[in-house]
Amino acid sequence: MIRHNTFRFKAPAGLLAVCGLLFGLLACDNLHVTRFYENGAVVSAAPIATQAGVRVLENGGNAFDAAVTVGFVLAVVDPEAGNIGGGGFAVMRQGSSGQITALDFRETAPAAAAETMFLDDSGNVIEGLSLIGAKAAGVPGTVAGLHAIWERYGSLPWEDLVRIAADLADSGFAVDERLAESLADNADSLKRFPETARVFAPTGVTPTVGEKFVQTDLAQTLYQIAAEGPDAFYRGSVAALIDSTMRVHGGLITREDLDSYEAIWREPIHFRFDSLDIYSMPLPSSGGIVLGQILKLLEPVDTSPWSPDSPEYIRLLVESCRLAYADRSAHLGDPAYYDVPSGLLDDSYLAQRRDLIPEKGIGSSSHIGPGAPLRSEPEETTHFSVCDADGNMVSLTYTINGWYGNLLVVDGAGFLLNNEMDDFSIKPGVPNQFGLVGGDANKIEPGKRMLSSMTPTLVLHNGQPFLAIGSPGGSKIITAVAQVILNLTRFNLTLTESVNHPRAHHQWVPEVVRVEQGGYSVAVIQRLIREGYDIEEVKAIGNVNVIMVEETGMMQAVADRRRAGSASGY
Ligand code: GLY
Repeated sequence: MIRHNTFRFKAPAGLLAVCGLLFGLLACDNLHVTRFYENGAVVSAAPIATQAGVRVLENGGNAFDAAVTVGFVLAVVDPEAGNIGGGGFAVMRQGSSGQITALDFRETAPAAAAETMFLDDSGNVIEGLSLIGAKAAGVPGTVAGLHAIWERYGSLPWEDLVRIAADLADSGFAVDERLAESLADNADSLKRFPETARVFAPTGVTPTVGEKFVQTDLAQTLYQIAAEGPDAFYRGSVAALIDSTMRVHGGLITREDLDSYEAIWREPIHFRFDSLDIYSMPLPSSGGIVLGQILKLLEPVDTSPWSPDSPEYIRLLVESCRLAYADRSAHLGDPAYYDVPSGLLDDSYLAQRRDLIPEKGIGSSSHIGPGAPLRSEPEETTHFSVCDADGNMVSLTYTINGWYGNLLVVDGAGFLLNNEMDDFSIKPGVPNQFGLVGGDANKIEPGKRMLSSMTPTLVLHNGQPFLAIGSPGGSKIITAVAQVILNLTRFNLTLTESVNHPRAHHQWVPEVVRVEQGGYSVAVIQRLIREGYDIEEVKAIGNVNVIMVEETGMMQAVADRRRAGSASGY
């Protein structure tokens, strides 16, 4: 049964402020408390990156300047996902004009890429080829993307913003617990290629907690990018190093691929949900469309009798996700290569789709499309948000796809390449590392951008800044973002509660509901199982980093408790 909506909005700003301040005073872990900032706020996956961004703001930079620095610093201190060898997306608001734009700096397939490049002569997938080594890499977009942000909106000199990261790589930084653990957990993988081992295990083992981690080659690369801009990366000395690495390791990226790479400005996906205006990433990220479908499918539902733990709510959330991810698999891909239907967010279309949700019990993915087996699913990618007092907002998600990308450091350049080619549908019906399947819309074609789930999103209320939100987590990014928005606006949780509340996920195939380990009570899980759902426990569903702007202009920043991120401001 679908009930009709009674809209409930967030608790009054004053009440939230009091709750947040009390929480701030009582909490010991300063990485995960809510704080309030008047002038600007940054939230990212790494304390050093967050602090670097705040210093840029304090020194007169705007949110876009700070985002450029955070992006480059994450490439130094968060090498699992922070990058210059990958790509991503950003949704941004310029305070002075109120204009909202979306920037696509997704990787592209090299010109020599072919639909069957990851298949053997019998048409079977060659295990690991789309994930490890040179062939797995798409043409990186991060440097072009960060430069495009700066070129359009930045106020401080490019060189100064990038040098902050270069200096950090050059002088080194003390490895924190999270990075030490991540490097140790991935030590075997990081020794797969000698150059990668030289960078990440310089003494034969990966750096431990407190050890100074110096990245001399990366520093040189960043100094060149600081001095010459993207030309250094796409046409100059860095391009030459990428080219020679590709030749040695049998990769496809050429000097021409690098030279022709461009970040693309796009119209954001815009939709209304309750009284909010939501702006999110358009194709080639599925994030905006799938987020829009999930929220709009749920919009007429009266959630007021429920909490985010109510099995009735979880059932409708799951069924909405099932429908949205089914459309993702069939209809979404790079719009330059595939004729994507334009009506995916139309009210009439979504009303028809909503009618497919059963009155009771569970839906069936096989009735609306094919199934597929599950493979292991990492949680990679990283998201950061920056807001300033002038109403500028940046929501940026970027990635090298898997943890440490394709595991291949560019010889002499000190940075890892992505394994984003795996985000294409490498064979119809064969799931990628996130268990997602696709078909023609997302098949490999030269120059094409692979479909993404990254969902950098801005939310406005009454035309004013409200949220800058996003998450890593592969296919689970979109459901994580949707649930935080729902927790905050439908269930009146505080921002911290909204982020930290347990989450559920369904992506059409495999036909299973993922729930966070220990997140829901046994009674809730039993009820869902009785309804007929297969339940699978996973460690985490996304890692949402969000800034909320109060009506007063005060900013709260929250880093998800699921990873050791950090929120700060001034
Ligand atoms: N590489 C994960 C994504 O783009 O969705």
